[in-house]
Amino acid sequence: MERVKACALAELNEGQCRVVKHGYEYIAVIKKNDELHAINDTCPHMGGSLGTGWMTDEGTIVCPWHGWEFRLKDGEGVWPSGIKVETYPVQVDDDVIYVLMDDAKK
Ligand code: FES
Repeated sequence: MERVKACALAELNEGQCRVVKHGYEYIAVIKKNDELHAINDTCPHMGGSLGTGWMTDEGTIVCPWHGWEFRLKDGEGVWPSGIKVETYPVQVDDDVIYVLMDDAKK
């Protein structure tokens, strides 16, 4: 596992998102309902940036292009169902947010 630095904990307020690049992947790091999440930023439909979409109080993120919706905690598709976006563990160390990435995904 590789730790990818996202930002300082104080830089990410409730309902905000930071997009982090790791190799060829973009990861949306999100604080919602006082929890931190990391989800692949690229929508599996046509590649919209999920991090530029909007979040719901139910803990989902909605793609700004055509409205596909995914749960932040596990990436499961709410609409449509049966589609999943990859999620990643998040770690806070010394007030810095890190995403834990598989080395092979670089
Ligand atoms: S690109 Fe995300 S819903 Fe179409």
